[in-house]
Amino acid sequence: MGKTKPVEVLLLVLIVTAVSGLKFRENQNKIIKVKLGSKAVLPCLFESASQDTAALDITWLNSNGTVMTYANGEAHPVQTSSLFGRVSLPAANIISAGNASLLLENVQLDDSNGYMCLLRQFPASDHTSVQLEVQVPPGKVSCSLQRTVVNGDDVVLTCKSMVGSKPLKYTWSTASMPRSAKQDMAAGTLTLRNVSLRDGGKDGGKYVCSIQNDIGTAKCSVFLALPPGKKNKAGVIAGAVIAVLLAVLLITCLVTWILHRQKQSKVPEQNYEVRMDESPPLSRPGSRAKSGLSVTSAAQTSGF
Ligand SMILES: *[C@@H]1O[C@H](CO)[C@@H](O)[C@H](O)[C@H]1NC(C)=O
Ligand SMILES: *[C@@H]1O[C@H](CO)[C@@H](O)[C@H](O)[C@H]1NC(C)=O
Ligand SMILES: *[C@@H]1O[C@H](CO)[C@@H](O)[C@H](O)[C@H]1NC(C)=O
Repeated sequence: MGKTKPVEVLLLVLIVTAVSGLKFRENQNKIIKVKLGSKAVLPCLFESASQDTAALDITWLNSNGTVMTYANGEAHPVQTSSLFGRVSLPAANIISAGNASLLLENVQLDDSNGYMCLLRQFPASDHTSVQLEVQVPPGKVSCSLQRTVVNGDDVVLTCKSMVGSKPLKYTWSTASMPRSAKQDMAAGTLTLRNVSLRDGGKDGGKYVCSIQNDIGTAKCSVFLALPPGKKNKAGVIAGAVIAVLLAVLLITCLVTWILHRQKQSKVPEQNYEVRMDESPPLSRPGSRAKSGLSVTSAAQTSGF
């Protein structure tokens, strides 16, 4: 512009301003949602009618004040801002090409705010806004049954996410959802009426809860079945009766065997010859009966 006369410069400036010197390429009030601890790009994309990029001034602000300034081709983060050390601007050549986006790293919940990108390229000036929402994905989830289930019960399955930004949406699913099922997507409950579980009843099986918010999903599941004890009550009782009978039999045999041995040990003192004759038939059946019993009871135990 060295050779142009002041009047011509003024004329050029007026024309540029009239054609709107700066134009943003993004919608105003865009909402950016990012995960806690990740990085965020707050967009400020513009087109400039002027080639004089050195004359470009950028100011990024939030409700606390200025976060970052850019002038004479240099970026200056504001030291008093809580974002200091975590914010940057693109390289000067990228800014010149129309990208003055603010890069924010390791975003914190407190960073959620309205941000403004203010551009000045004399004599034009304009601004755009963007909303940053830092969110936490669902986590520490648990699926549970309200209580133990009996055939014909009304059952409530509960799903809970201990962390996660609201709104959280809960969705229950299973291979074949019972017709009576009622979901509460906000509370995370699934209510089943008159459940049928016995003999592979249609309502049994795995129920999966999926918890979703704007930036993530988490899952948990619960298995709906009759408690093992209730499945064959008759079998359990029969088993217990058999165990008691076996124990009685075992004790009886043991007592008999001990009595025989006591009798036996007294015999030798009186008659040495008789002991030799009587000993084999007495001790053999006794020990056989004992070992036979212990095997039966062990098999019964492992069957429980
Ligand atoms: C603008 O710059 C940022 C930061 O360098 C980058 O992440 C983003 O992709 C750029 N946007 C465009 C449209 O080039
Ligand atoms: C605003 O300032 C307060 C106090 O320093 C700080 O805790 C908060 O994170 C700041 N918010 C933003 C979005 O910079
Ligand atoms: C519950 O379901 C069984 C069949 O699964 C049906 O016979 C019975 O009438 C039902 N009871 C109620 C109260 O709906």
